[in-house]
Amino acid sequence: MSGLKVAITGLGMAVPERRVTNFDLAQTVDTSDEWITERTGIKERRVAGEGETTASLAIEAGQAAIKDAGIDPADIGLCIVATCTSEQPIPPTSAFVQEGLGLRCGAFDVDAACSGFVYALVAGASMVASGAIGPVLVIGAETLTRVVDPLDRSTVILFGDGAGAVVLTPSEEAGLLAWDLGCDGSLTGLLGVPAGGSRLPSSPETLANGDNWLKMDGREVFRRAVRVIVDSARLTLDRAGLTADDIALFVPHQANVRIIDSAAGKLGLPPERTFVNIDRYGNTSAASVPIALAEAAEAGRLRPGDHVLLSGFGAGMSWASAIVRWDR
Ligand code: ACO
Repeated sequence: MSGLKVAITGLGMAVPERRVTNFDLAQTVDTSDEWITERTGIKERRVAGEGETTASLAIEAGQAAIKDAGIDPADIGLCIVATCTSEQPIPPTSAFVQEGLGLRCGAFDVDAACSGFVYALVAGASMVASGAIGPVLVIGAETLTRVVDPLDRSTVILFGDGAGAVVLTPSEEAGLLAWDLGCDGSLTGLLGVPAGGSRLPSSPETLANGDNWLKMDGREVFRRAVRVIVDSARLTLDRAGLTADDIALFVPHQANVRIIDSAAGKLGLPPERTFVNIDRYGNTSAASVPIALAEAAEAGRLRPGDHVLLSGFGAGMSWASAIVRWDR
């Protein structure tokens, strides 16, 4: 791969005000802070309150990224929103975001679950690099807590809400060096919301059966997650002509600290070169990688010339890796 001449020139994030701790959850389901901390690394998550939605969080993160890039919203040439918890079934969340940000450009959604942001980043970067379009705003935004059964201890502990955004602009140098986008559609049954689509429209029966809530075979997702993260990252390193030693920071999807530690260990990436913030936000699906990127930049952990490995995996089963050369 020769890479794409594009740079991330703006970063932003937004999370709801409301914090729900493990102790709070232990009041409503049979769990404990000790179990959740030990099995997942999560201590608390943010939960959208009244008036907070996937689009409202996306708009706040998008505003911050556009401000950080120092450009006018009117200059944005395309808006892509990665989400699997859309504002409503129709129209796409990106339409609400386009209006909320006062953009005058095309807008579409990408749904690749927790891999969505990396998929959208590659799509947006390809369009910028083609020269056909001006700066592209790529947002990952989710309100997973709206599709999780509050009484299911195996899922309610995992998810949180939030949004992260980047602005991609043309660059003299290749900034997106290599990527890998994958999916194994034979595994759709591992993780998903069964009802509410064309296969099983919502009805009083689906609601009564709990089919509108997220269902997950956590153990199997866990087992496969480590493998796909490692295989996809190795392939992407090969395509970029790099090794793990060249990676300054690994920014993985934040699903479970044990998945992150295991994958990072197999890749030979030590904790000091792996970004983890799952303790404060839980799994925010497509929002987790851009939120982590925004926090890493804020903490001064990204320097010009750094190679940053991004990695996502999730329902589908989908996965995605990308290596970015930082240029700010
Ligand atoms: N509190 C206490 N006990 C619990 C809880 C809880 N919150 N949840 C499950 N348990 C119990 C189970 O009932 C089970 O009890 P049993 O042995 O008596 O049957 C025991 O704990 C062990 O359960 P496991 O499911 O084996 O626990 P595990 O260590 O695998 O952790 C977890 C479960 C955290 C869900 C883990 O499997 C995981 O993180 N999986 C990956 C999830 C993921 O990454 N999803 C990503 C994609 S999300 C997307 O795409 C939208």
